[in-house]
Amino acid sequence: MFEQLLPAAKDPILSQTLACQQDKRAHKLDLGIGVYRNNQGVTPVLSTVKIAEQRLLATQDSKAYVGLAGCERFNHAMMDFLLADNSSKSRAVAVQTPGASGALRLLADVIKLANPDTTVWLSDLSYANHAPIMKTAGLSVAYFPYFDHDTKAVNESAMLATLSQLGKNDVVLLHACCHNPTGADMSMEAWHSVTDMAIQQGFLPFIDIAYQGFGEGMDQDAAGLRYLAERVPSYLMASSCSKNFGLYRERTGLAVIAAPTLSQSECVKSRILECARSTYTMPPDHGAAIVRTILEDAELKNQWLAEVDQMRGRIQGVRKALVQSLQISTNSHHFDFIADHKGMFSVLGIDPAQVDRLRTEFAIYLVDGGRMNVAGMQTQDVEYFAQSLAQVMI
Ligand code: LMR
Repeated sequence: MFEQLLPAAKDPILSQTLACQQDKRAHKLDLGIGVYRNNQGVTPVLSTVKIAEQRLLATQDSKAYVGLAGCERFNHAMMDFLLADNSSKSRAVAVQTPGASGALRLLADVIKLANPDTTVWLSDLSYANHAPIMKTAGLSVAYFPYFDHDTKAVNESAMLATLSQLGKNDVVLLHACCHNPTGADMSMEAWHSVTDMAIQQGFLPFIDIAYQGFGEGMDQDAAGLRYLAERVPSYLMASSCSKNFGLYRERTGLAVIAAPTLSQSECVKSRILECARSTYTMPPDHGAAIVRTILEDAELKNQWLAEVDQMRGRIQGVRKALVQSLQISTNSHHFDFIADHKGMFSVLGIDPAQVDRLRTEFAIYLVDGGRMNVAGMQTQDVEYFAQSLAQVMI
């Protein structure tokens, strides 16, 4: 049966985690996979998550199946949280999924069912798992210009020029905030332009929101997507609770479908549930139960928001410290852009050989392509990192 089967290619992100775990050097720095670490190097269980878990332990009286769409209270609480008072909520429906990757895959499956000729347009660069998910669902993938390697910002005019050519057979996958891998976010003006184009040209916006609260704030990070959602006839959205609730291993995500009418959205949802049934049937419950416990309790929710503020503040502090240290170690302003980037990641603009040298000579692990997880760095390591990076730049 398996004689002809070749082994899988290495995952560009997960393979670095593994390699770093196996590295015996004490001073190693794991700046690959996107997990937040506090200044002690720990990815903590949030205190509000602990409180929610204690409540669940005390009150949960059954482990019976919940349903194909997961917990509807979680779905509603998340929709309210993501969309606030957005009018699109009246025609949107949601499904709980195993992480946002699960949401991306189910939404890709339903796009394939609805229109097999769809091309999904990804930003160049984009999250390493976007193309594999879309392609595994049988969809074609193409790229629109996004990251300007010289300015380390979004090349919005090039992006909009490509998007202006798209139409009804196209889906445009946008990162709501804290762009993965680059850290460079679209301006509000660009969100306005993409919204107008989606309305006029008929392409379908597909929003991935995985880092809400890690950029500028909970509402600020959702402003672009809310503007768009308010105006376009249809959109899809994949949302993750991995980062802002720290629920990585609980695989807690949400797929949102907004079609022109509620009954169309319900129809799409029924096909998504059919895909879920033939894949994993039901999503795991624990993470969703935690999230709804927090979001449904005003006091607990405020405590959680403060915890996210703290994580964001630390990331911003590391960004500033990195810029200062890199100014000294490189005697230049070459890396000042790190302070302008948002969220966990920055693409540093170094070549594969330099990434490799950081790994082999200095035990510093980035993702190939030079993505650094800023949120994984402790302030005590900033100087070592800056000096090592300066060394490989020579
Ligand atoms: C990342 O980009 O590092 C995270 O989203 C983890 C993952 O699943 O790829």
